[in-house]
Amino acid sequence: MDLIFASNNKHKCEEIRAMLNEQYRLLSLEDIGCKEEIPETHPNLQGNALQKAEFIYQKYHKNCFADDTGLEIECLDNRPGVYSARYAGEHCSFEDNMNKVLQEMGNSQHRKAQFRTVIALILNDKKYFFEGIVHGQILTEKHGKDGFGYDPIFLPDGYTQSFAEMDLTTKNAISHRGQAVKKLIAFLKNFNYATK
Ligand code: IMP
Repeated sequence: MDLIFASNNKHKCEEIRAMLNEQYRLLSLEDIGCKEEIPETHPNLQGNALQKAEFIYQKYHKNCFADDTGLEIECLDNRPGVYSARYAGEHCSFEDNMNKVLQEMGNSQHRKAQFRTVIALILNDKKYFFEGIVHGQILTEKHGKDGFGYDPIFLPDGYTQSFAEMDLTTKNAISHRGQAVKKLIAFLKNFNYATK
């Protein structure tokens, strides 16, 4: 069965492809020749993930899924949340976003945060959602050079290294996205099995 991942991120696509069995052929937006900007105008992760999946489903009539992730910081009323990618402005860098967060938090002692990923899947006209969460703290300064986004300022609970100091295998094993993808894969494998 063909399944489209409504994302332009090759790395994410490869990662998921490697986890799926041969019953599914995972296609990226590039594979289907979709060059359009997919709208993401909802005020929450679930709405955005579904909006992206529906856009592709309606246009290409193929089963598909999309993801959306946000960093939710308690003392900032869960900001940047759905606005994580462009928190510091339209063309901002990861550095700009982290600097804005650190500046807004100042030396607050209340540094609890979580990364949350929502995946929306549309399969044979039905909608399904999968969520992954990793809890942690926002550090007072950046630590580590690996990873992307807010990795240098996020310390997952139970660990002594920020996401940017960890090797990728460790990060993927505990991360928000890793957990949501695992739920999606388990569902697809079962679904596949049940329909045989
Ligand atoms: P997306 O929905 O996966 O594109 O994620 C939106 C934004 O959240 C990204 O641009 C990053 O700023 C942030 N983000 C998502 N996942 C991670 C992560 O694993 N580490 C750090 N930042 C992330």
